[in-house]
Amino acid sequence: KKKVLIAPSILASDFAQLGTEVANVADAGADWIHLDVMDGHFVPNITFGPDAVKAVRGSTTKLFDCHLMISPADPYLEAFAKAGADLITVHAEAGPHLDRSLQAIRALGKKCGVALNPSTPESVLEYVLDKLDLILVMTVNPGFGGQKFIHSQIEKVRRVKAMVGGRPIRIEVDGGIDAETAPLVVRAGADVLVAGSAIFKRPPYEDAIRAIRESLLV
Ligand code: DX5
Ligand code: ZN
Repeated sequence: KKKVLIAPSILASDFAQLGTEVANVADAGADWIHLDVMDGHFVPNITFGPDAVKAVRGSTTKLFDCHLMISPADPYLEAFAKAGADLITVHAEAGPHLDRSLQAIRALGKKCGVALNPSTPESVLEYVLDKLDLILVMTVNPGFGGQKFIHSQIEKVRRVKAMVGGRPIRIEVDGGIDAETAPLVVRAGADVLVAGSAIFKRPPYEDAIRAIRESLLV
């Protein structure tokens, strides 16, 4: 069984000190750093772009997990790759051609993922499964931190897990993940937990990360 990884989302961090926040959460035991990119079009919020990713790249050697909530994503993939993204996740709904986006990420030498909004069925993954390193099941509607976990997505994680079978694909969940919800999604098959508020709004970060890890032991 794969080790469950914790990927703090810097969306909930102090943007005035982004580099320090990344370094601190990495030292506190984060496995990956989750970077939420929003364009005000695909989602009703705007965050940051490749220049900000590049600016904090020097703050840690941890894997940079870039979650692109932008549409279209293709024109910006190269910029995020060059900025230091290690894994680039695009939304299945971002369009126009998911398979093309995944091929483009691979051609840039990066790992690739597909994210599914809560209302999107897992069947959209059927023909791209063999091209994926990660599937991101959104457990809130994308756009904001601090939203309530959508319980219907636990069943989707279970179905995605069954679809993946023996393939070396990580299953990530994002939105409303804390010590209460983490065990539910891990039991269903998730092995990467994104957490924003549950870590950055509950310092010290080391204790917040430990609380999530310990919730998985019971
Ligand atoms: C939501 C983002 C998440 C967000 C999660 O659109 O994709 O990564 O930061 O925040 P919490 O953990 O607070 O729900
Ligand atoms: Zn995210």
